[in-house]
Order: sequence, then C-alpha cells, then structure tokens
Amino acid sequence: MKKVILDVDTGVDDALAIIYGLESKKMDVLGITTVSGNVPLRMTTRNTKKVLTLIGREDIGVYAGAEGPLIREAEYEYNIHGTDGIGNALDGMEIEDSDHETPFAPDFIVEQAEKYKGDLTLIMVGPLTNLALALRKEPRIKDWVNDVIIMGGVVSEMGKGNKLPNSEFNIFADAESAAIVLHSGLEITLVSLDVTLQTYMKLEHIEQLKGTKYYNFTLDSTKVFRNFSEMRYGTDGCALHDPLTIGYSLDPTYIETKKYYVDVETDSKLSYGQTICDFRNLWDCEPNVNICVNVDAERFIHDFIETLKMAK
Ligand code: BDR
Ligand code: CA
Repeated sequence: MKKVILDVDTGVDDALAIIYGLESKKMDVLGITTVSGNVPLRMTTRNTKKVLTLIGREDIGVYAGAEGPLIREAEYEYNIHGTDGIGNALDGMEIEDSDHETPFAPDFIVEQAEKYKGDLTLIMVGPLTNLALALRKEPRIKDWVNDVIIMGGVVSEMGKGNKLPNSEFNIFADAESAAIVLHSGLEITLVSLDVTLQTYMKLEHIEQLKGTKYYNFTLDSTKVFRNFSEMRYGTDGCALHDPLTIGYSLDPTYIETKKYYVDVETDSKLSYGQTICDFRNLWDCEPNVNICVNVDAERFIHDFIETLKMAK
C-alpha cells in the first residue's frame, strides 16, 4: 500500500479528503501534518483531530506545523469554511486539545522521507509552508520523496482563480513557499482549479449518502461552502478540490497530465500567487510540474460518493 503523509489546512474539503483517503483503505497514512490556511493553525489542527475521531482513526498522529506563511500575513477563508473551518458540523465533539504535538510538521516530513526513501508520497492540500520549511532544513528530501501531489494553482483557465483572477487560494496564501517547492526538483503534480472546478458535489450527491455514516457531516459541513458557491459563482455545490487530489493518488487515471515548466509569481499586486505555465517553452527551462489537462469528473465523483457510502 502506498505510504503517504497528508498535509492539510482543514477546511471543509480537506475534511472530506481525509475521510475519502482513509475510508478507501488504499493508502497507508503515516501521519497528518497541519498548516495555517483556511483558518488558523490551532483550528486546522483541532479540526483534523475531530475528523479522525469521526472516522475512528485517532491512532493516526497529527503534527502541527507552520503558524503562518513564510513572509506575508495570513488571510483566512471563514466565509467559505465557516467560523470554525468545518461549517461548525462537529461543534459538540470533545477532543484532546494539545496544540503542538512533537515533532513539528516539517521535521516529521523530513524524518519519514528519510525512513521511507523512494517510497513516500506527499499529498499537500493547503498552503505549502510545511514542505518549504522541510526543504530548507533538509534539501535531500527531493531525492528521498517519491512524488508530491499538490492541490493548487490555476494554469490554463486564466481569469478563473478563486483568490485573485489568476491566483488560487493555496498558492496565494504562501506564494514564496510555493516557489521554493516548485523549484526544489521534487516530482510534482499540480491538481489545479482547471480540473477541481469540474468536480462539484451537489445536494443530489449528498442525498445519496442518506442513512450512512457521513451523511450528516457532509450535509452540515458543506452548507456555508455551498451557499458561498451559489452566491459567488451561481453553482449549487461544493468543489471537491482536496478530495480530487486524493483521488488522483488513489487512481491516476482520473486525470490526464502533461509536464511543463511552471513558476510562481511572488512580486506582483495584480497576480501574486499566479502559477504561470510556460506552454511554449519561451523560458527554455526544464519541465518541473505535471499539470492537469483533463479530468474524468463523473467517474471520480461516483467513486468518492461510493467510498463514503460504503463506510462503516
Ligand atoms: C483550496 O483552498 C482551500 O480553500 C481548499 O481547502 C482547497 O485546498 C482551493 O482553492
Ligand atoms: Ca485545503
């Protein structure tokens, strides 16, 4: 079974991604690292522990990481993920609330990369601060980690960002870290908005879960998110950004990829955090990122819903 570390900023769709990955029973999750992103670190860590309790996998370690981006100020997304980050869906749940378990998330990534050389996949569905810090500490992880799957960016659908017209939240949240990661030499796949915005979970999908373990959580946690999508984009549903990233790891045939040179803008007011793909090789640089050019959305959403539905 594939050994993975999930790096999350839980987050409604992060929560669904954790559930999907673990309930698939097809990945060996060595630990979950948390980062500041959708909401502050203390909350993303708490939410992650709550989700693991909901699943019944409290045995998996949660390692808190960066409290904010490398350079810029943090900006949170309460309007999409709710005041607690998961739509207040698990408000009544008690968890052990130790803020900073050891080791620190970037140290955990380095330690596991060394231990499982050539055999570890990193799945990053939040801002890339933890991985940038890990690379700074131990650049050799670029040779130790097998591959990195990142939810982030928008490369083809210009003007269809979700933070700025050409910028996606995870990259915008810490573009300096994203630049370090993209230039690191790691084997990277970028699951960008170009494909994740084709995977909307609508109310009719959620209703298919009625009577099963995750119905209430899926319905409640996504409410603010679905309302936001309706108001902002006129789409009733919840884009499955982070679950699709897990989906690609479970079954790469969901997405068609192509390798190009991609860089990140860190110096511009209008397009801070833009992921720029050099489709025509004008910069004459070695391709460094597998970008996503096509997704079998229907097949992926079907598998996602079925996996949740079958869970006991
Ligand atoms: C990404 O940003 C967050 O809001 C989501 O959890 C996802 O990882 C989408 O742009
Ligand atoms: Ca996320």
